[in-house]
Amino acid sequence: MVDLSYDLLKRLVEAPAPPGFEDRVRRIVLEVISDLGFEAEVDSPGNVYVKVGNGQPITLIAAHMDEVGFMVKGVTSRGFLKVVSLGGINPSAAIGSEVVVMGDKGDLAGIVGSIPPHIAGREGREMRIEDLFIDIGASSAEEAEEMGVTKGSPITFMGRFRESGRVVMGKAFDDRLGCFTLLEALKTANSPEKGTVYVVFTVQEEVGTRGAAAAALRVKPDYGIAVEGTLATDTPGIPKEDWVTELGKGPAIRVMDATLVANRRLVNHVVKLAEDAGIRVQYQLSPKSGTDAGRFSLTGAASTAISIPTRYVHSPIALALKEDVESTAKLLSLLIEHPFP
Ligand code: CO
Repeated sequence: MVDLSYDLLKRLVEAPAPPGFEDRVRRIVLEVISDLGFEAEVDSPGNVYVKVGNGQPITLIAAHMDEVGFMVKGVTSRGFLKVVSLGGINPSAAIGSEVVVMGDKGDLAGIVGSIPPHIAGREGREMRIEDLFIDIGASSAEEAEEMGVTKGSPITFMGRFRESGRVVMGKAFDDRLGCFTLLEALKTANSPEKGTVYVVFTVQEEVGTRGAAAAALRVKPDYGIAVEGTLATDTPGIPKEDWVTELGKGPAIRVMDATLVANRRLVNHVVKLAEDAGIRVQYQLSPKSGTDAGRFSLTGAASTAISIPTRYVHSPIALALKEDVESTAKLLSLLIEHPFP
């Protein structure tokens, strides 16, 4: 197996980068790309492009730099921050988690609080984002402002990174695992045997694959592949036939989701590449979610997604198997060399 630098994953994971505020992840990505001897370009939305190979066809392989988070919509008179979500967050899963508020005067630590369910009239009511608030220890709206919080300050989960035996744990695995495996693949891959590969790190995926739209316009791909940290549901209470992906079965090759019916020739090509290299893969159907690959398909690219199975995505902390991360990096390296069917 490839020898991955988990120190790099730790840096990527711990950097806060809610949609539209990807700067700190982008800085790390640009640093690694430059260390590897590649040139990078950045467009105005903030997508990062690395071009390898030459000529036609054009393959776009992308991971998104942003993660789900919140944005301050107001501060109560007693200094609590009310928020909207940036991307899909289950409000119940967010309660009690530590967050980073990216204020004008630097990062602030906060805790997600909520109206307790045993307050009269709340029993049995579903938790909504509007029920959440963030406590930064301010005692008034004026004090919060003084601390650098404004309307629109972005927020992410804190989630420290840990390596523990066979697994890694941390926040934002969707999609720092994608960024990480793609950077690791760039380290090891030879140039594509034919055509051009654009390795792209996109912005604002979690709020509607917006960076991907700009990237597809710019690159005009014939083939589009999104690299994702995706939902693994091999956990208690979910019948096996409903599992989206499971840990230990390797990268998940997407067949369909809410925004994509994957190109079967491309899917078969990826599966064949994996099989020939002895990499185990699984198929993924996700009728309730989408990725940048759906956006690429709308611009005419034959598309699919390759995903690292990840438990508890879009929550304050997630878990993935190193073996799956490593085999995904290996598969992506092969894909850069042999990008299309
Ligand atoms: Co994602």
